[in-house]
This record gives sequence, C-alpha cells and structure tokens, in this order.
Amino acid sequence: MASSVALDRIPTAPGALPLLGHTLRLARDPLGFLRSLRETGELVRVRIGTLPVCVATSAGLIHQITVAQARSFEKGRLYDRVRPLVGNGLANAGGELHRTHRRLIQPVFHRSRIDGYAEVMSRRAVELADSWTDGREIAVEQVMGEYAIETLAETMFSTDIGRPAVAAVRRDLPVILKNMLLRAASPRLLDHLPVRSNRDFDRATASLRSVIDTVVASTREAGRTGAPDLLSLLLDARDEETGAGLTDEEVRDELVTILFAGTETTASTLAWAFHELAHHPEAEERVLAEVDAVVGRRPVTVADIPRLEHVRRVLDETIRLHGVTLLMRRTTEPVELAGHRLPAGMEIAFSLYAVHRDPALYENPDRFDPDRWLPGRRESVPREAFVPFGAGSRKCIGDAFSWTEATIALATVLARWRLRPTGGHTTREAASAMAHPDHVPMTVRARTP
Ligand code: HEM
Repeated sequence: MASSVALDRIPTAPGALPLLGHTLRLARDPLGFLRSLRETGELVRVRIGTLPVCVATSAGLIHQITVAQARSFEKGRLYDRVRPLVGNGLANAGGELHRTHRRLIQPVFHRSRIDGYAEVMSRRAVELADSWTDGREIAVEQVMGEYAIETLAETMFSTDIGRPAVAAVRRDLPVILKNMLLRAASPRLLDHLPVRSNRDFDRATASLRSVIDTVVASTREAGRTGAPDLLSLLLDARDEETGAGLTDEEVRDELVTILFAGTETTASTLAWAFHELAHHPEAEERVLAEVDAVVGRRPVTVADIPRLEHVRRVLDETIRLHGVTLLMRRTTEPVELAGHRLPAGMEIAFSLYAVHRDPALYENPDRFDPDRWLPGRRESVPREAFVPFGAGSRKCIGDAFSWTEATIALATVLARWRLRPTGGHTTREAASAMAHPDHVPMTVRARTP
C-alpha cells in the first residue's frame, strides 16, 4: 500500500513495546508522555495497543487539522466510544448533521441568553460562599464539581417538571464522569466485563438518559416550553432556513452532551485557579483588590465581567497550564500534513495541554504568570498557540458560558474568603478530559470587609 510506505517516514515515539505499543507509557504518565512527543517531531507515530495513531505536536499542525483542512477530518475513535452516552449530540455529530445542529443550537449560547444564565450562576455562587464558616476545610475540586453540576442542571431545567432531571444529574453525572475516561480508552470488548466500573457506568448512563427522556417528553406534551432554560430553548429551536426543529431524542442527546462537556471542564479550571492563587500571593492580592473595587459583597452581574480584567487573566493562565488533554480526529480522505501524505481513515490525536506548554511558544511555559496576558504582552503569543476551547467549526460552543460562570464563582468566593492550602497534600495533575487536580484540600478564612 503506497500509504503505508509514506507512514513509515513519520518518526515513531521511543519506548514502544511489542503488542502493547506505547500503552504503558501513556498509562503511567499520560501528560508527561504527551509533552515529550514534540521532541520526536511535529507529527509522531504512536501505537495504543495495536491501533496506530499519529500525534500532531505543533500549534501550526493543530490549526491545519481544526481549521485550514478541517473538511478532510471527522471526529475520531475517542468520540465513537462515548456515542452510547451522548448519541449524536453536537460534540459527536459529523458533516451536515453537525452543521445544521450547530446552527440551531448556537442561539441558545448567544450572549443575550448567557445574561439570563448568569443570574443562576451568581445566586448559586453566593449560596455556596455563604454556606461556609471560618476555618472550615473543603475539598475544592469536589465543591467546584458540585457547583458546576448544580448550576448547569438549574440552567437546563428551571421548571417543576424538570426537577427529577436535576436530581438525576446530581446523582448520575459524577459516576459517569468518574468512569468515562476508562471506558473511552479501553477496547470495546471490555465494555461487558462484569466489573464494578462497568456496572456503575451502565446504570448511571441508563438512568440519566431515561429521566431526561421523560422530562423532555412531558415538557413538550404539557406545552411548557417558553421558560428561559436550556431545555425549553432546545425544544423551541427552529432552523432559520428550513424551519425544522430537534426531535425529543435529539434534545436529550444535546442535553447529555452539554452536561458531559460543560461540568468537569469548568470545575477543574476553578479548582486550579484557587490553587494557583493561593500559591502566588502577588497575583492573589491583585485579584482581591480588583474584586473589592468592582463588586464588593454584592452579587456579581454580567455587567461586572468586562471590568474583572485580572480575574480573566488568571483564568486564561489557569486554562493554559491545565487544559484539555487529548482530542482526536480521523482523516476522511488522503491528507497532506507536515510533508507526509496520510491515508483516509488515519486516527490523529493532539493535546491542547501539551501545546500550551511548548517552550517555543511560551517563555517559562510551566510558570503561572497571569501577566503574560496583559495588553502589550499577549500579542507576542500567536493566535494559533492559545486554543483552550479548540478552533474552527468544532470550537467549544460553551466558551462564553464557561468563562462567565468561572468569573462569577471566583469573584463571589474571593470577595468573602481567602482559601489557604490545608497542608499534608501536594496537588498533582491527573489526566482526564482535562489535566484536573487530584485533590485540593483548603481551609477557608474569612476576609474582613
Ligand atoms: C473550561 C471549560 C471548557 C473547556 C476548556 C472546553 C473545551 C472544549 C474544546 C477544546 C472543545 C472542542 C473539542 C474538539 O475540537 O474535538 C469543546 C467542544 C464543545 N464544548 Fe466545551 N469546554 C468547556 C466548557 C463547556 C461548557 C460550559 C459547555 C456547555 C455548557 C461546553 C459544551 C461544548 C460542546 C457542546 C462542544 C462540541 C461543539 C461542536 O462540536 O460543535 N463546553 N469544548
């Protein structure tokens, strides 16, 4: 096959074992492995078990894949494995289906809609901060996970008909997220092994999907759309060109996709932001001064957000350091990449996390330095080099939602509390969809107004 000859010229990452390929290296230290690949080349071959994958390690190639030559790629294997959970929701849909659904759903995430969701985000953040007492110890990653789940559940289901869905999200989503990566990374063959992780995952997935099905159907039947929540907006969405809407199953798949894509991501960023600020007193002081000047103790509103400039830089720097670990695509036709001709059907992976720590793009790439995003300095970072939400037609649809939520949560908490590391634990990155923190134990200390 001509294509295999061409593939042979692509350098292979060191350390491959017979049969296992690079699976052990990836399992032992996934983030270190992903970062090391750029030393082998711009396009690198790795083997996950027997599956050959090419990894793109430069910002330029990632731009080629996601923007310039995006039409020659579809979503890859990682997404096939989550299809039983999210069906053909936006993150998984391809081709024309993706284009029409994206057009239909985009208005649900329009700025004007986010203003409404921001009220829920702000109220929930105040409730959370008010529930603490001086000296209380909290597991920040857990608290932020609950905050992100509850906030998203409430922005989705605001009516009494939706209440069972809020309860199901609270109960089932943490179980799904915990077992998701294992499921996505293991061969399909293992899905039916009678082990606890499979049982938990299957039960939680079936439960969440069925409760949401019931809520979608009863909301439609009762004619109870029109509420300013994601459920109603999706039920009412109509294509401007064709007038077509989404079926109940499609609405369910979109809701599950959004729950899946929009909770761990925001929660992990928030937990890291608190961690980084506690370890960088100068940055923390500036955030506190800004929050006091812009908002004080009143609830944060969307109008405050553009003025919370330092908070924004802290969040940008946090997501640069601890972002999305691995994305995948598959070529739909032969593609020319980094001087190599790849055949159709080739799996390509890339790590936003690794590219955001590339020393060729960032000075002191491992240093937490929010000031690198100051006007005057941020221009030195090429546009393609900072893509925490991806790029092109598959760029995150929830980016503004997520940054609004994170800004509100950070400002609300810091107006009232200083979070201090509890000691006894060194927080480390653990690879999941994000490079999330393994554990962030902190003590809350009241700030004197
Ligand atoms: C820190 C927070 C977040 C990060 C870092 C993030 C990151 C990303 C990235 C990198 C992609 C592109 C994936 C690819 O190219 O394969 C994506 C897609 C997506 N995200 Fe997010 N996301 C975040 C929050 C959210 C939120 C809050 C929502 C919803 C409320 C959301 C919903 C989605 C959806 C539906 C897609 C698929 C879009 C499409 O294919 O058209 N995300 N996200």
